[in-house]
Amino acid sequence: MTKKIAILPGDGIGIEIIAEAVKLLEHLKSNGLEIELSEAPVGGAGYDAAGKPLPDETLALVKNSDAILLGAVGGPQYEKLPRELRPERGLLGLRSELELFANLRPAILYPQLAAASSLKAEVVAGLDIMIVRELTGGIYFGEPRGIRTLENGEREGFNTLVYRESEVDRISRVAFDIAMKRGKRLCSVDKANVLEVSELWRERVEFVGKDYPEVELSHMYVDNAAMQLVKWPKQFDVMVTKNMFGDILSDAAAMLTGSIGMLPSASLDANSKGMYEPIHGSAPDIAGKGIANPLATLLSVAMLLRYSLDHAAEADAIDAAVGRVLDKGLRTADIMAAGCKQVGTVAMGEAVLTEL
Ligand code: IPM
Ligand code: MG
Repeated sequence: MTKKIAILPGDGIGIEIIAEAVKLLEHLKSNGLEIELSEAPVGGAGYDAAGKPLPDETLALVKNSDAILLGAVGGPQYEKLPRELRPERGLLGLRSELELFANLRPAILYPQLAAASSLKAEVVAGLDIMIVRELTGGIYFGEPRGIRTLENGEREGFNTLVYRESEVDRISRVAFDIAMKRGKRLCSVDKANVLEVSELWRERVEFVGKDYPEVELSHMYVDNAAMQLVKWPKQFDVMVTKNMFGDILSDAAAMLTGSIGMLPSASLDANSKGMYEPIHGSAPDIAGKGIANPLATLLSVAMLLRYSLDHAAEADAIDAAVGRVLDKGLRTADIMAAGCKQVGTVAMGEAVLTEL
């Protein structure tokens, strides 16, 4: 059956990098992959087109799709809009409307890029971590939230960090399942020494872990986890954590690999419907210049094929093609190194297609 893929380029470099991903998908389609692509605006582009970051038509399209490929959202021209109209709201709306609670953020260091990391090569060589971030709960969505004025006239901002048992259980299961397919080690990151919500989190992760006796489960406080990630990151296999901790730790983990321009991500619901996106943002400073690195987006296509379309062979082929392009010394500006050849977005995309 033909699978429907929604293409949401978004803003900034999202447009350029998604164009390369579409070429890749069209190529797979002409080789027999049964897919149908439809494009729609989101983020700032959604606001420009329909007055809101997640237009109704875009929401209807993604609800009716099997998978979504997203570029990036945001730009300086939208920063002064009221909060509910800002591009980020489009992204958060997609996550919550589609119940994409499981965010998989791999941090893999391609051996060809070991020199691009700010850490010593021996600390990061061979790095392969999977961060599983809870994506539709916690402080990002907790109620009550707002800014209120106190009796003395002073204003106070507040948000709520809240997790239900069922929310912890389902993200834990995803993380344990992934650990089973990898190195069978799971580290749950929390702040159980201070927060009640973390105390409950830890208890539920332990509980779910009883179903996975083969997985070695450990717990770490988030401050220590941040430190360990930069000290000796190879100690980790799979990490699972709350929405906000995952936001922060996944950026740190990404940088271990040298460039945030290399890392894909998947956000999945309970039925493996997913949204796939590079973890970097819309990079307004380089948008439109044709120099953005499209590899994270092409690798996101690989994740889409693997997790939502069940086409592992094609996914492996894309991963391998990216490796060969790096072997040949092609680099975009963000990963450029001495002795390599610098290329732009389109040339990099085409090089991967040629390798395929
Ligand atoms: C991310 C981003 C988003 C987040 C922003 C853009 C809302 O930083 O996907 O990590 O905080 O989740
Ligand atoms: Mg982030």
